[in-house]
Amino acid sequence: MKIINIVGARPNFMKIAPLMRAYQAAPSIEPLLVHTGQHYDHKMSQLFFEELGIPRPDIDLEVGSGSHAVQTAEIMKRFEPVCLERKPDMVLVVGDVNSTIACALVAAKLGIKVAHVEAGLRSFDRAMPEEINRVLTDAISDLLFVSEPSGVTNLKAEGVPDEKVHLVGNVMIDTLLANLEKAKARNTTAALGLTPKAFALVTLHRPSNVDDPTTFKRIWSTIVRVAERTSVVFPVHPRTRARMETFGLLQSVASSGGAIRLLEPQGYLEFLGLMADASVVLTDSGGIQEETTILGTPCVTLRENTERPVTCEVGGNRLVGTDAEKIWAGFVESMRTQVAVARPPLWDGKTAERIVRVLAG
Ligand code: UD1
Repeated sequence: MKIINIVGARPNFMKIAPLMRAYQAAPSIEPLLVHTGQHYDHKMSQLFFEELGIPRPDIDLEVGSGSHAVQTAEIMKRFEPVCLERKPDMVLVVGDVNSTIACALVAAKLGIKVAHVEAGLRSFDRAMPEEINRVLTDAISDLLFVSEPSGVTNLKAEGVPDEKVHLVGNVMIDTLLANLEKAKARNTTAALGLTPKAFALVTLHRPSNVDDPTTFKRIWSTIVRVAERTSVVFPVHPRTRARMETFGLLQSVASSGGAIRLLEPQGYLEFLGLMADASVVLTDSGGIQEETTILGTPCVTLRENTERPVTCEVGGNRLVGTDAEKIWAGFVESMRTQVAVARPPLWDGKTAERIVRVLAG
């Protein structure tokens, strides 16, 4: 059985790594890897292949950046001939990025089976491009691999037949557990001159948070306030870096006297080490909510909703939105309370093996 596996953007790489490894135990499967090129900077892409030992892609579509329509269409145009030439039995997509829906749609229209890893997650917020990608990808998938119980409930409510749905756990946590010791051995925290459990780690990249100057400036004023209480480390996504320049936010970094440290996008091992050592993480990412849950690091999520509710139910994730006072209150509360390491069901490092067993049938 020939399976084309798709990666495109940074959060895809840690999800595909354990699958590519698990295929080695399934001789009936011939895996191919296609990189759409949605993310292309060395630090957003190649670095993850190196650190996670992901095989070199068999095909690189090199689409690059563009508006949603342009990027999605370009991936589709370039992926269709690959399917026609390689004739896969299945296309496997992960996550919720534009590469996910684009390749799933091409495959479904060609009558090729689609498997979706991380199916069923719902924020119920259609203003999020990722929510559109999730809903549409699930609607045309034949096999839906789900990471947390809410996903099963959501798919049932949407009328997806039970036999298509497999609650298997979280592939991203496979990667985390396999790399945690290596990440700690990198000593990234010490290399940055920081003390473990004495800094806040920040990430922001969601268009709804960083593209609108009023919203971003409001969030930023709270980050500056956090930096008066503890050191702030902020690896900056390229989109966010561009907005900070445009909105004139870099001045406050200079005047923070070193309390705010802007970093380039970090590698997987470096960032994992920082997450494990941070006293709190402030983020608008999806995956980081899950990673901090397993690490027992409190997470303050600067969004109004989450498609990953298990992280709030069993972990130390707090949804605070983007109101300055609510972010601050979430930060203060997180610093005050202890968070235990939490393990949602099947987040045990063996999810990729379970998925490959189902695929191998
Ligand atoms: C994408 C995903 C988002 C995910 C995020 C992780 C979609 C709809 N969004 O958002 O779900 O959380 O990846 O990073 O697929 N850029 C570079 N270099 C790169 C990649 C991007 O400079 O290697 C810049 C470009 O200016 C680009 C912008 O970042 O226009 C946004 O990139 P894009 O892939 O469109 O979306 P992300 O915001 O990264």
